[in-house]
Amino acid sequence: MRVGVLGTGMVGVALATRLVEVGHDVVMGSRTPDNEKAMAWAASQPERAAAGTFADAASHGEVVVNATSGIASYGPPISLEPVAGDSLAEQIQRAFPAARVVKTLNTMNCDVMVRPSTVPGEHDVFLAGNDVAAKGTVRALLEEFGWPPTSVRDVGDVTAARGLEMYLVLWIALRMTLGHNAFNIRVVT
Ligand SMILES: NC(=O)c1ccc[n+]([C@@H]2O[C@H](COP(=O)([O-])OP(=O)(O)OC[C@H]3O[C@@H](n4cnc5c(N)ncnc54)[C@H](OP(=O)(O)O)[C@@H]3O)[C@@H](O)[C@H]2O)c1
Repeated sequence: MRVGVLGTGMVGVALATRLVEVGHDVVMGSRTPDNEKAMAWAASQPERAAAGTFADAASHGEVVVNATSGIASYGPPISLEPVAGDSLAEQIQRAFPAARVVKTLNTMNCDVMVRPSTVPGEHDVFLAGNDVAAKGTVRALLEEFGWPPTSVRDVGDVTAARGLEMYLVLWIALRMTLGHNAFNIRVVT
């Protein structure tokens, strides 16, 4: 599959690298066509990897991964105060009504995102979005990364992104007390 990865930070690099590893054809995008990190990443890959602008990556991708900084993703400053009525994912969905936004992978460190076995035992990743087919596409990619089907939890439409985004506050508290990134959560019923 052709995938555009918007973002040259640690998340963009982790996702783009793993996507190439599992067989996809990836263009990493940044604000400028000659971003050093994007060019170095493309050069470090054996095949199926290129660097370009955000527009290049987006036009390349059948799937486009947004791994940009949260504030850059939409514009207005993002508050970590509890929000009852909105989320960044919903703001993006409203700004781009034709996009089939799926929120996922924001509830863990990027090493865990792409290699869930980094954390021992069973633990979960979430999907939120309005389009069932798009969630199916993302689910398949997550399974290619190594997420067991029973660990990929669809939590509903894009409004469920509110909870996923607010989880960051707890993730940070856990990170501070545990002292490392190799952890995740499991829903038990
Ligand atoms: N680090 C983790 O493990 C982790 C875990 C969960 C969620 N996240 C989230 O994942 C996202 C990416 O995190 P990250 O640490 O990899 O990278 P980051 O430093 O938060 O973001 C880097 C990307 O954002 C772009 N960017 C920055 N300012 C911009 C602006 N004003 N306009 C347009 N683009 C701008 C940069 O563009 P250039 O390429 O042009 O510089 C770069 O591609 C963040 O939203 C973060 O909160 C991270």
